[in-house]
Amino acid sequence: MSSKVYPVSKSAKTRALIDSDKYQKWYEESIETPDKFWGKHGKRIDWFKPYTKVKNTSFKGRIPIKWFEDGLTNVSYNCIDRHLKTHGERVAIIWEGDNPYIDKKITYNELYDHVCRLANVLKKHGVKKGDRVTIYMPMIPEAAYAMLACARIGAIHSVVFGGFSPEALAGRIVDCESTFVITCDEGVRGGKPVPLKENTDIAIDIAAKNYVIVHNVLVVRRTGGKIGWAPGRDHWYHQEMASVKPDCPPVKMKAEDPLFILYTSGSTGKPKGVMHTTGGYLVYASMTHEYVFDYHDGEIYWCTADVGWVTGHSYIVYGPLANCATTLMFEGIPTFPDQGRFWEVIDKHKVNIFYTAPTAIRSLMGAGDEFVKRSERTSLRLLGSVGEPINPEAWEWYYHTVGEARCQIVDTWWQTETGGIMITPLPGATDLKPGSATRPFFGIKPELVDAEGKTLEGATDGNLCITDSWPGQARSVYGDHDRYIQTYFATYKGKYFTGDGCRRDEDGYYWITGRVDDVLNVSGHRLGTAEVESALVSHHLVSEAAVVGYPHDIKGQGIYCYVTLMADVEGTDQLRKELVAHVRTEIGPIATPDKIQFAAGLPKTRSGKIMRRILRKIAEDDFGALGDTSTLADPAVVDELIENRQNKK
Ligand code: WTA
Repeated sequence: MSSKVYPVSKSAKTRALIDSDKYQKWYEESIETPDKFWGKHGKRIDWFKPYTKVKNTSFKGRIPIKWFEDGLTNVSYNCIDRHLKTHGERVAIIWEGDNPYIDKKITYNELYDHVCRLANVLKKHGVKKGDRVTIYMPMIPEAAYAMLACARIGAIHSVVFGGFSPEALAGRIVDCESTFVITCDEGVRGGKPVPLKENTDIAIDIAAKNYVIVHNVLVVRRTGGKIGWAPGRDHWYHQEMASVKPDCPPVKMKAEDPLFILYTSGSTGKPKGVMHTTGGYLVYASMTHEYVFDYHDGEIYWCTADVGWVTGHSYIVYGPLANCATTLMFEGIPTFPDQGRFWEVIDKHKVNIFYTAPTAIRSLMGAGDEFVKRSERTSLRLLGSVGEPINPEAWEWYYHTVGEARCQIVDTWWQTETGGIMITPLPGATDLKPGSATRPFFGIKPELVDAEGKTLEGATDGNLCITDSWPGQARSVYGDHDRYIQTYFATYKGKYFTGDGCRRDEDGYYWITGRVDDVLNVSGHRLGTAEVESALVSHHLVSEAAVVGYPHDIKGQGIYCYVTLMADVEGTDQLRKELVAHVRTEIGPIATPDKIQFAAGLPKTRSGKIMRRILRKIAEDDFGALGDTSTLADPAVVDELIENRQNKK
């Protein structure tokens, strides 16, 4: 833990929407009288019918959570229509292509046209309120149009990250029984094509074997590359868009009608379809976007996430657009054409607020300062970080080299399930400590508990829980509310358990230490060890697998796999390569194993439970501290595992 403190700068304080007094006052009000507080702030979005009830929530029993329940609104209306009278010609989306010479700007008027037309295309093909639409897209504006078009007609979107494999896509299509897919011929990243339509075709075949038939595929033409075509099922986006009306009335949605499903990994089983609803989500996403980034009218805001993740949902699309911001969408990668790309884009589009992930910061820091120094970055005013703990070295580099000690840093902690930022500095209110996400946002009640669930007070380490509802909270797991209750509310009764470990210091600052469950965080992406294990054992030569994380300089965590092969199969380097490729096809490149260790046996208790604690230690090359191994069924396996470890320092 770094002991340095960076006080709020004078300039940040002067311009800030929230100073420390206001933070204190609002925070107290939000905790003591949540109905009054959120009753007021719920009005930041437009309602067709105003709500009269504000908060109706419980973390007990079936976990019923309702915010603004009798209000009627529409997310797409709030992100577009309501801005048109005064700001129709303002740029809503700046799109920066993978190729540094290609970009375009989309005004709010144009956004209205695209989204209405696309909503009409969906309607024409029979998509109705409550239907699930899968969006498997690269970072092009059409991905945002697709999300907003669904929201406009009340269809529930499920965006699947374009880096996921056909198998992973199929699993998500099947789980929510989605029969309409929006995709693109090919994506482009770092100059290379990504075969999205081809992946979609494969996924649709797999889904059909699982009795979910995709009836329609809408295909955006991005590269013009060669693709397969199923007449009747596949439709060109540009052709369909040309043949429909440019207006489409927004459907009046109940506040608690679902807005989207987003699949995310947990410690067990398949990824869960985390479900967010309409009113509370938008209030929370837009409010956090405004105050955390201290967003002022007319500023250019850039979040480098992918729309396939929750950060893209809340802080590329919904939060910024609800606030009538100009949001930059980047198709490419930070290292193409070279490691100076981010800084070049900042100069090119005069970006004021820049929000990225520690893994990108670490990797660009490693590239050397000359890439940063090549740019001016004078437009920059605020820097943000999200996705994993940021180590103090990376924080300091971000602060001093990228921000030239001029820009506050907001290290924002949150999750897919929380819908928006939960623990974070506010630029004009919070003194910064490198590596700490600092303090809770309005309405958020964090609590640290020990393994038994006892509440811990003062400066301490513990498991991070949230003890009362906030409007952006996920309401369910799609189609499996029991799993929602089990995953988040069963570990510590009456509390939402985040799965994260955390330290609170003497000043009441929170320091997230990382997952305490079997979830990996690889380059800021969540991945269940169980998912990687099940991918490995689906290979015909593998009998058993156990996967753990280990500290990785760039990725935060690397993926370490222990694999027991079928009898008489030899563990060769060739087989290692084959297994790596196999996991990539099953899940996608983000799950690429870093180390594979062939093991004759895994350390198990007498009841057959794998002792991951030991596997983690060996993967970290820290086997001097293995702890108690006396409960092992066969202690000799440990020696063999140590002997053959793949991560010798
Ligand atoms: C981790 C991403 C430390 C954490 C928005 C959490 C962080 C998981 C931070 C959620 C941060 C996210 N500091 N850890 N600022 N932000 N995390 O669902 O472990 O993809 O539980 O949401 O990322 O990942 P998810």
